[in-house]
Amino acid sequence: MMRISMSLPKKLLHEFDEVLKDRGYQSRSKGIRDALKDYIVRYQWMNEMEGERVGIVAVIYDHHYTDVMEDLTDIQHDYRKYINAVMHVHMSEKYCLEVIVVKGDVKYIRSFTEKIMRLKGVEHVRLTSTAVGENIELEAD
Ligand code: NI
Repeated sequence: MMRISMSLPKKLLHEFDEVLKDRGYQSRSKGIRDALKDYIVRYQWMNEMEGERVGIVAVIYDHHYTDVMEDLTDIQHDYRKYINAVMHVHMSEKYCLEVIVVKGDVKYIRSFTEKIMRLKGVEHVRLTSTAVGENIELEAD
């Protein structure tokens, strides 16, 4: 075992501890290990997909955050070939939800999703997609 120390926003740690409590975890370290494994599996799973897919990217962001709306729009313009529709919902005073319908080679859908994930002010991104073709299997990353 290696020992690490890390800095986290208080709110994030509090929310994480709440989830651990709900799920009956006795140890925060065990919770963090499981969360890391989950993150790795999700990333690997996303990287293993190939071919043509259709899906939705759901993004929740704080629209007060400097440049986030502009950055999000720039990325969507760059990937406009792979975007079929966009729906914007003003969720609360602070947060917006954007649902982006994407279709195309998964390598572009993946890089599009990852660019959005890296934006400051974006709180949540989820890609749900299915293969285009005979066999429908719906998977959420
Ligand atoms: Ni809005």
